[in-house]
Amino acid sequence: MNFIPYGKQSIDEDDIKAIVETLKSDFLTTGPKIKEFEENLANYCNAKYCVVVSNGTAALHLASLVLLNENDKVLTTPNSFLATSNSILYAKAKPIFVDIYWDGNINLDLCEEELKKDASIKAIYVVHFSGNPVNQEKLKYLKERYNIKILEDCAHSIGASFDGVKAGSCANSDCSILSFHPVKHITTAEGGAITTNSKELYEKLLCRARFELLPNHGSESPFHSVPDSLCLP
Ligand SMILES: Cc1ncc(COP(=O)(O)O)c(C=O)c1O
Repeated sequence: MNFIPYGKQSIDEDDIKAIVETLKSDFLTTGPKIKEFEENLANYCNAKYCVVVSNGTAALHLASLVLLNENDKVLTTPNSFLATSNSILYAKAKPIFVDIYWDGNINLDLCEEELKKDASIKAIYVVHFSGNPVNQEKLKYLKERYNIKILEDCAHSIGASFDGVKAGSCANSDCSILSFHPVKHITTAEGGAITTNSKELYEKLLCRARFELLPNHGSESPFHSVPDSLCLP
């Protein structure tokens, strides 16, 4: 029987050449290619900053640790890979599921109803489901009107845009996450990234990604620098 594959990556000779170059270089991890990839991703998405991590789940985890506080209430979608809502739990915050529109995206009108009822809600985590971005005008309105944090889960949507606003550009959000698992649009085998336009958020993410969560044992990377004041003791 012929099954439709769950995913099938396309790896060409240029990809193989680039991998061999890295294998022959001095850095197999946390080297200059990381910085190059981060800059290219930020440029492509129209965001100011980018931090790459080991996968999309780690990107969500890290972003949640930086964005949320314990017990924060976060509106999110039930129609996603479990990493989206799990990341809220990793930060000891509380996911509140809001129903979806017919197109699979979180219903932003229902989000507004929740925000009207409960002024203590701190954030919305949206997923641009299957490459179909949520309405950016509505996102902008909710962010400004209710002064909430917004994370865009762009694991399925690099390259997509809504009325000219590119997925990952964070035009109307605090940060976005990307996944490079082989079933996604581009792959690094496992891989993920966070984009943001906030320098402060970027430095906090970088601090946690490079110096605390990844196995750098507190040592500095020669390719990134962040103020000591932002790092945990
Ligand atoms: C919407 C969404 N967010 C996050 C993730 C997590 O990405 P990763 O598999 O790279 O950890 C996925 C993975 O399928 C996803 O579909």
